[in-house]
Amino acid sequence: MPNNVVVLGTQWGDEGKGKIADLLTVNADIVVRSQGGNNAGHTLVVGDKKVVVRLVPSGILHSSSLCLIGSGVVVSPEALFGEIAELTASGITDAESRIKVSAASSLLLPIHVAIDKASELKRGKNAIGTTGRGIGPCYEDKIARRGLRVGDLYDMEVFKEKLQALLDYRNFNLKHYYGAEEVSFDSILEGIMKVRERLLAMVADVSAILADARKSGKKILFEGAQGTFLDIDYGTYPYVTSSNTVAGGCCTGSGAGPRHIDYVLGICKAYTTRVGGGPFPTELNDELGEYIRKVGAEFGAITGRPRRVGWYDAVAMRRAVDINSLSGLALMKIDVLDDLDELKICTGYRLEDGTESQLPPLAAYEYSKVTPIYETMPGWKASTVGITKFEDLPVNAQAYIRRLEQLAGVPVAIISTGPEREQTIMVQNPMA
Ligand code: GDP
Ligand code: IMO
Ligand code: MG
Repeated sequence: MPNNVVVLGTQWGDEGKGKIADLLTVNADIVVRSQGGNNAGHTLVVGDKKVVVRLVPSGILHSSSLCLIGSGVVVSPEALFGEIAELTASGITDAESRIKVSAASSLLLPIHVAIDKASELKRGKNAIGTTGRGIGPCYEDKIARRGLRVGDLYDMEVFKEKLQALLDYRNFNLKHYYGAEEVSFDSILEGIMKVRERLLAMVADVSAILADARKSGKKILFEGAQGTFLDIDYGTYPYVTSSNTVAGGCCTGSGAGPRHIDYVLGICKAYTTRVGGGPFPTELNDELGEYIRKVGAEFGAITGRPRRVGWYDAVAMRRAVDINSLSGLALMKIDVLDDLDELKICTGYRLEDGTESQLPPLAAYEYSKVTPIYETMPGWKASTVGITKFEDLPVNAQAYIRRLEQLAGVPVAIISTGPEREQTIMVQNPMA
């Protein structure tokens, strides 16, 4: 029985990771985030209550779960405490005591938000379409070894020195390269001092907690953010986020070793969406796309941006299966396709020389040379909303799911027929 399960996105984010992480947390003692920051927006629906978490792991609704933020996460204290305040207001009053933050996680500061916005403006028509949360610049500073970490808050003399050095560099960028307003040392320090003690009270050695948990047989859920094709190495670079969203990122960003992962669950929609710029071979820029966006409520959970919509891409999935070593799939939002006459599945990419590729390219510019090859399946024209048994699905829906499973080469473990916990077909619970 798998103890330690990874839940991650196999497309361009917003696949429904939040719903599945929340669902599986019933059987998990610990839920850990290993990468990304408050660019994520994971929606949890329980009855008529909807909660959107950004930095906080999706296990937070379960009062017995410990929620960890690993070293690979970029932590905006302002965003974290804003989110805790929202959780408290919605009745989850013990959130702060159940969240632990790694001292090695990076501090995301207002200077990063300013750089993110200025950098997007400067890119003009080539803008990435970031969430504007400062994620990229914060990771840049981490990798350049000039970033500040949560643990730096212990010694404010060291902290101030590092902050001054960071601002000297970043404000020079802002003023002289981007022609934007500088961010003052005092304003950042003031913001930090307001939350310093609260944040330090949440600091813990995340990798040590995970090691102890593993030894005592506790169950750990690793919750990915974003999706495989937003990965900094394997995504549609440069139209990606700045972290490793693939399964390997769970290890580096939490401090758990690769042999401690038992099962990797890939979350995918029964179609595809993406938000922001960058290639999207199966995109539907027509009325049908508009229809799926409306029925699927495909608007950003945090930013409200309309998501781009397209057919299911089995070529992209082939790479997602391999690089994440997927054990199984959770197929989401099947109900959104209920009224379609027919469905298309992209099974290959036609290249300019007429040959066919079974794997997607590794750089954004190469996508201009590919055209999707589709196979068509009949729709089911009946409601699947809330169905909980596979055999109760219309036969054409069963056939569509089986075809996606066959193309991916890994079993479908979960099928989602609505946003709520109960609206789920649990073929094989990866954590039970
Ligand atoms: P995440 O970022 O991967 O957690 O996904 P988001 O929360 O950003 O987006 C997924 C959206 O789809 C949310 O609004 C969910 O409530 C919703 N959702 C999840 N599963 C289903 C489903 O099976 N059917 C429908 N109609 N909506 C779903
Ligand atoms: P969840 O976890 C969908 C996208 C942005 C942009 C690119 C870079 O909810 O699935 P960033 O702000 O990270 O530098 O933006 O990545 N992006 C997401 N798209 N879901 C997300 O998170 C995303 N997080 C970032 O739209 O294209
Ligand atoms: Mg989301």
